[in-house]
Amino acid sequence: MAAIRLGDKAPDFTADSSMGTINLYDYLGDSWGILFSHPADFTPVCTTELGTAANFKPEFDKRNVKMLALSVDGAASHNEWIKDINEVQNTTVNFPIIADEDKKVSTLYDMIHPNADNNLTVRSVFIIAPDKTVKLTLTYPASTGRNFYELLRVVDSLQLTAYHKVATPANWEHGNDVVVSPAIPTEEAKGMFTKGVEEIKPYLRMTPDPTT
Ligand code: BEZ
Repeated sequence: MAAIRLGDKAPDFTADSSMGTINLYDYLGDSWGILFSHPADFTPVCTTELGTAANFKPEFDKRNVKMLALSVDGAASHNEWIKDINEVQNTTVNFPIIADEDKKVSTLYDMIHPNADNNLTVRSVFIIAPDKTVKLTLTYPASTGRNFYELLRVVDSLQLTAYHKVATPANWEHGNDVVVSPAIPTEEAKGMFTKGVEEIKPYLRMTPDPTT
């Protein structure tokens, strides 16, 4: 399976999960989605990640992003593991975890990197837009837990740039100034961004976040 690239349609699938059978496209509906893989159940880093993800769910909900995890164990195992996650992370995991025992979805999404590990997935992240195109891919090794603040930050950037002709600079966070899209001439930008446009260089123009 070729790697999934930005702009590709997210491959659809139907799979078992901790909450029963799930079809990706039906599950997402018109929402954004985040699909993220975990190497295996009952592993320490994954336990912290899933607890953290559950605690971040209200923030993803606010942004209209449906969460979907994956691990290459079965649904019964997932549901036993969820009890531990809830206990030790003081949370309630309330989004599905795909039970990818046959590795169908992991293979479809190229989540197994054989030179890292032949059997377990790496920590992949896919952010999917409402039109089902893939807007972000990230790959972390099994030994590094992901930063969920970063995942929210990138959702904020993706949603801003989907609807406004801007881009977000290094370390940008919601509310900070943004970069005017290079395709827009400065004079036109001044008419478009009524909060003001600062021209630092002809190719580097800043404007306040148009959504705040
Ligand atoms: C973990 O989640 O802790 C983990 C899983 C697989 C390999 C290394 C760490």
